Amino acid sequence: MPVDLILGTNNVGPHGKIKTIKDFSEILDLYASYGNKYLDCAYIYPAGFPGEAETFLGELQAAKDGKFVVDTKLDSFRDGAHTEQAIYVSITSQLARLKVDKIRTLYLHAPDRTVSFEATHRVINELYQQGKFERFGMSNYRLEEIIEFAERAEKNGWVAPSAYEGLYNIVSRKPETELLPVLRKYNISFYAYSPLASGFFSNIKRGQDPAPGGQFDPNTFNGGYNQSWFFKDELFTAIEELELVGAQYGIPNNAIALRWLRHHSQLSDGDAILVGYSKIEQLKQNLEYLEQGSLPDKIVQVIDSIWESIKDSAPESVF
Ligand SMILES: NC(=O)c1ccc[n+]([C@@H]2O[C@H](COP(=O)([O-])OP(=O)(O)OC[C@H]3O[C@@H](n4cnc5c(N)ncnc54)[C@H](OP(=O)(O)O)[C@@H]3O)[C@@H](O)[C@H]2O)c1
Repeated sequence: MPVDLILGTNNVGPHGKIKTIKDFSEILDLYASYGNKYLDCAYIYPAGFPGEAETFLGELQAAKDGKFVVDTKLDSFRDGAHTEQAIYVSITSQLARLKVDKIRTLYLHAPDRTVSFEATHRVINELYQQGKFERFGMSNYRLEEIIEFAERAEKNGWVAPSAYEGLYNIVSRKPETELLPVLRKYNISFYAYSPLASGFFSNIKRGQDPAPGGQFDPNTFNGGYNQSWFFKDELFTAIEELELVGAQYGIPNNAIALRWLRHHSQLSDGDAILVGYSKIEQLKQNLEYLEQGSLPDKIVQVIDSIWESIKDSAPESVF
């Protein structure tokens, strides 16, 4: 299978939607039963309650004996998050919570432009030499910033970024034109997050008020940027069009979105889809969709023509 799956954990923790270790354990078992083992976590998950998702992973000893392979992201999204001291505080607490000495990928979750990137990269390189992680990942950076890290790594012999997480789905295809060619040039794998646009393809209709505390509640961290990314007339029109063509084949929007990413998008060998869910039933459905094959040509054509009509207002994950 050329495109890997990585299980997201941004809804995991007592203040998230997967509130108990037992429920999360069942989710991990389900995910493993489909032959998967990669997990994506972050200091910040679930948003607003840092450390809760990592704590669940540690309590379950997820990484023990290689049953699962854990990636996580440093504390970011605030000025001063990437000073040397702050990075050490973050990684030390994260490894302790995860109950491991080493993880697979350590990400800078988003740029901290108050600290020189060279200083940040130097600390990342130190941690790499100390054996704290195997791969250096970046997320939500500008193109020229990714290039800067990749070039510096080459020049200084420092650890180079080899994974990048960005928004990529049927209504967010901007990475195809500039980001992906750069990632290919520097041998950086691309991991597509929000494959279902955080539920935009199935859970919200034009004119509907978002559920309080939900994925589109503007008063929450996630809801704020999800609204700014997806709540646009042309994107609602796109989803309505997709629903119509999907209905001709009995294929719902979420299935279209996941099957497109796996079989028709520009993801390829070594890239991955970050799988999202807020309950086990959703995860099961998504894993089933992901097992299904390529889409009928007509649907792929509609996806491409929709893209032509929305590409100027499509969201992009640069912070
Ligand atoms: N690097 C970054 O900055 C970044 C950013 C975002 C995500 N990520 C990673 O990527 C992972 C996936 O992203 P995501 O959570 O945004 O993925 P997503 O699949 O686009 O969105 C997940 C949400 O979509 C809805 N959903 C999922 N499956 C569904 C189904 N079968 N039926 C109906 N609704 C469904 C649920 O909404 P409800 O909650 O309303 O039920 C769920 O919370 C995250 O867990 C995280 O690990 C990384």
